[in-house]
Amino acid sequence: MRYKVVIDRENCIGCAACVAVCPENFEIKDDGKAMPIKPTITEKEYPNNKKAEEVCPVKVIKITKI
Ligand code: F3S
Repeated sequence: MRYKVVIDRENCIGCAACVAVCPENFEIKDDGKAMPIKPTITEKEYPNNKKAEEVCPVKVIKITKI
């Protein structure tokens, strides 16, 4: 199973909670907003990415099965 990681960057407030819980797949770019390092992840990578989705205060991270 693979998953797609999408961030609605327009509405990201750059709080970096995603980076705190999943530094292996989230980074803050020069514009101060988050970006997934890998837009497609495996089952093994899913739990931590899911945590990032859950902790985002403005809920702009969406992880969906592909
Ligand atoms: Fe942005 Fe949410 Fe991460 S606001 S920096 S995507 S925790």
